[in-house]
Amino acid sequence: MERKSIKLVICKDKNAVAVSSAQIFADEIRRKPAIVLGLATGGTPIGMYRELIRLHKEEGLDFSRVVSFNLDEYLGLAPEHRQSYRYFMDSNLFNYINIDKSNTYILDGLSKDPKGVCRKFEEDIKKAGGIDLQLLGIGRNGHIAFNEPGCSLDSRTGVVNLTQKTIKDNSRFFKDESEVPRQALSMGIATILEVKKIVLLTTGEGKAKAVAESVNGPVTSKVPASYLQHHSDCTFVIDKEAAQNL
Ligand code: PGA
Repeated sequence: MERKSIKLVICKDKNAVAVSSAQIFADEIRRKPAIVLGLATGGTPIGMYRELIRLHKEEGLDFSRVVSFNLDEYLGLAPEHRQSYRYFMDSNLFNYINIDKSNTYILDGLSKDPKGVCRKFEEDIKKAGGIDLQLLGIGRNGHIAFNEPGCSLDSRTGVVNLTQKTIKDNSRFFKDESEVPRQALSMGIATILEVKKIVLLTTGEGKAKAVAESVNGPVTSKVPASYLQHHSDCTFVIDKEAAQNL
């Protein structure tokens, strides 16, 4: 596979990351009102979602025809669980914009047939015409979605194990580490690389090593985000701290 360069937008701080990434999303939604978005959870996208809500309320940004697919969901958490990604999306974005919730696809973490759920998710993406614009975050270990180090380039949406580092990082959202689910459903690397355009957001010096390895390092399963070098339209929107090792 050919190696391409990842584009960089380096912002002065995390607020500027939120505003400039929301601008990219708003422009694409205005250009194609029935756009298919790939969305992400975590601490980083909250600012961008807040800005999209503002653009909806103050400037009439219209989500009525938007379709969305979320990257991942914890296995074993009900949609109503406060740490489920369904709950996150509703409470940080969907409840405040005019998106039709029946057009928001999030993997069902409580299903008795997780593999079937993942297969159907891939089919639903195809039926929607593929994802036009995908939002990503990055873990300190270089993970994208819940694709942890060691994952393969041809992985599809499936059940994955979380690494200890990710469990520790995500424990800040739970009462303690023991409550963090050990498994998740996640879009695969091959699924992500099929989207038309990727915007990865990250901030803070804790992500600087993963960012530098992903952008300038060899393409390796040790740093899953380095696989993004295979994508022809991938932009990292990051702050100065996250850019410090570039
Ligand atoms: P964060 O998570 O936005 O909370 O840093 C990103 C990720 O782990 O993918």
